[in-house]
Amino acid sequence: MNQPHRPTLTQYLIEQRRRFPAASGDLNALILDVSIACKAIARQVAFGELRAPGAVAGGAINVQGEVQKHLDVASNELFLRQAEWSGHLAGMASEEMDEPYPIPVDYPRGKYLLVFDPLDGSSNLDVNVTVGSIFSILRAPEPVASGGRALAAEDFLQPGTEQVAAGYALYGPVTMFVLSVGNGVVGFTLDVNVGEFKLTHPDLRVPADAQEFAINSSNARFWEPPVKRYVDECLAGRTGPRGKDFNMRWIASMVAEAHRILMRGGVFLYPRDSKDPTKAGRLRLLYEANPIGFVMEQAGARASTGRQPVLAVQPTGLHQRIGLVFGSKHEVERIERYHAEGGSRELPNPLFVERSLFRD
Ligand code: AHG
Ligand code: MN
Ligand code: MN
Repeated sequence: MNQPHRPTLTQYLIEQRRRFPAASGDLNALILDVSIACKAIARQVAFGELRAPGAVAGGAINVQGEVQKHLDVASNELFLRQAEWSGHLAGMASEEMDEPYPIPVDYPRGKYLLVFDPLDGSSNLDVNVTVGSIFSILRAPEPVASGGRALAAEDFLQPGTEQVAAGYALYGPVTMFVLSVGNGVVGFTLDVNVGEFKLTHPDLRVPADAQEFAINSSNARFWEPPVKRYVDECLAGRTGPRGKDFNMRWIASMVAEAHRILMRGGVFLYPRDSKDPTKAGRLRLLYEANPIGFVMEQAGARASTGRQPVLAVQPTGLHQRIGLVFGSKHEVERIERYHAEGGSRELPNPLFVERSLFRD
C-alpha cells in the first residue's frame, strides 16, 4: 500500500511559526525536545519487564502517597535531560518531583516553563494497557527568565488560559503525539521506520453531542448530587430523561480517555467527591487537568470543574488536585448546569418522559 506524504512534526512547527515572523523558534525547539523525550519513553515502555526485573511492576511510595513506578522515575529523567540544556527553559515541574526543577547553572536560561506528568496511568503498566505523557508550556516571569531571581513554585501558578502550548503522547498500539499551540489540535503518529512523528490527524474536533461517559463508579457513594444525577440519567438510557442509551468506559489512564474522546466524543468525569476531604479531586491541576483542558477547548470540547472552566482556575499549589469534567460540549454544559441547579432533583418518571414531546 502506497503511503501518502505526511508532514513531520518539525515541518508542522515550521509552518506554524511562519504565521509569526518575529517568533524566535524557541517554542518549536522546546516542543521538539519534548517529542524526543516522548519517543525515548515510548521505547522504554515498549520493552516492559524485559528492560529490567521489576521495571513495570516494582516501585516505591512517593510524596503524594502513590506508588512511584521505576518507569515513572525513568520517564521523569528523560524529560529533564532532554529539555534542560537547550536554553529555552527557566524551569520545570512534574508530578514526580516535590519541588520545581531550576535549570542547572551550566546551561542558559530561557523564557518558558515546562510542566509535565511523565507517565500518566502508570498503574496500568503491569497490565500492558495504554499510558502516556502530558505536558504544558507556560511563559516564565521575566525576572526568572533573565536570571534576575531564582525560580519559585509560585512562577508555575498560572491559570490554564496562560498556556502557550500543551499536549500529550500516547503509548498504545501506536505511539502518538497530540499537540495544540493555540491554533486547533493536531495529531501525529510515530513512523517507527524513520523515527519521526508524522501528521495523521490535521484537525481534531470533538463532536458536541455524545452517548459515552467515563467515570470510576466505585466512587459513586462519595459523589456530589449533580454527578450522581448525571450518571443516573445516563444509566437510565432510552426510557430515562435523556431518551437515549449511553455506553460506558473506564481505562484508568486519563490520557487514554482524553484521546478516545478526542477521536469520537464522549465525556470524562473525575469529579470532586467526599472520599478524602483533604483532596479536592483526584487529578492534578497543573500537569493533568490544564493541558488536557487546553487540548479539549482547542478541539471545540469543554473542560470544567463542574462549577467553572478549568482553565480559569487560579492555581494555589504545584501539586494541587481538582475535580475535572471534560469532553463533548453539550454533555459538559449539562453537568455544569446540574451543578448550578444544586442537582438534588429526583429522576422524573420514565413513563412520562418517554411520552413527552419536550425531552431534551
Ligand atoms: P498517574 O498514573 O499519573 O498517577 O495518574 C493516574 C490517574 C489518571 O490517569 C486516571 O484517570 C486516574 O488516576 C485513575 O484513577 P482510579 O485509580 O480511581 O481509577
Ligand atoms: Mn497522571
Ligand atoms: Mn504520572
